[in-house]
Amino acid sequence: MPVKQVSGRVTLTHAKGSSAELLLYGATVISWKAGTITEPQPIERLFVSSKSAIDGSKPVRGGIPVIFPCFGPPSHPEHMKLAQHGFARNEVWKFDSIVMDNDEGVSVRLTLEPTAGITAKYDKPFHLAYIVTLAEHQISTDLHVTNTSTSAAYPPDNLEFQALFHNYIKAPANDVLVFPLQSKSYFDKTEASEEARNKPKVETRAGVDVRQFTDSVYEDAGGKYEVTWPGGGVEITVRELKDVVVWNPQQVAGVKMGDMEDGGWERYVCVEPGYVRGFAKIEPGKTWIGQQVISVIHHERRINQL
Ligand code: BG6
Repeated sequence: MPVKQVSGRVTLTHAKGSSAELLLYGATVISWKAGTITEPQPIERLFVSSKSAIDGSKPVRGGIPVIFPCFGPPSHPEHMKLAQHGFARNEVWKFDSIVMDNDEGVSVRLTLEPTAGITAKYDKPFHLAYIVTLAEHQISTDLHVTNTSTSAAYPPDNLEFQALFHNYIKAPANDVLVFPLQSKSYFDKTEASEEARNKPKVETRAGVDVRQFTDSVYEDAGGKYEVTWPGGGVEITVRELKDVVVWNPQQVAGVKMGDMEDGGWERYVCVEPGYVRGFAKIEPGKTWIGQQVISVIHHERRINQL
């Protein structure tokens, strides 16, 4: 059975050997295994901390958490009662359907609608659908956000939100390079003062490394990224997700995270495509779709770091 659903977990298995596992909790992809053309044996591509809760008590520290409707601490007046990174990553989603199940791909659709618990802290009308598609060397995630308001008022009852895929890519962090981000402007959240955090910097590196504590929000970042390390890598292409965050806490911030395994920061890099600078807007009755496709890189593609 290419799609299995057992006690809050959905497993996708592709005929060519790749697989993925999702929790209904947070619609979090917690495993994606895929090989390459030359080394077809599927290997794990996502990092999940061994200290992470996966019982639905706390967002998963790893995999691909879905961030909606705010990234970081809330800044929009409609989001003020929400926790950092919003509620999508810690609500239980519904299994809706199998979208596709053939040699091209295996795909499922989960949904999230307002519940009493959500409405108590966020009273905007919305519908979320999340489609995860597994192919032989690829996984894609599509978030459909619908403004379900039927109000004809003027000004329109727009839904204003941020959305992001918080990918924890399993990788030797000290050897990772992320590109092409050179000459893109970014906001450095590791800066001590608010003034410095809000002042854009310009990326000078051809390949961005995370050997130091890194928490950078690249604005209008281009939509196609490579994350490489000696002998491996993944490529990420996106739709409607104009920004990208590169994050690795290194030891200095990693040890402060209760659900991070010892040295966990050495084993992943977060490369997170999103719409997080400003807010996406949808008019009543309309749907916005944000998509990412993560593909395995088959042959080593390294660039010079400088
Ligand atoms: C990143 C943010 O996306 O997520 C960081 O840029 C944040 O600032 C990190 O520390 C982890 O967030 P959380 O809420 O999962 O601990």
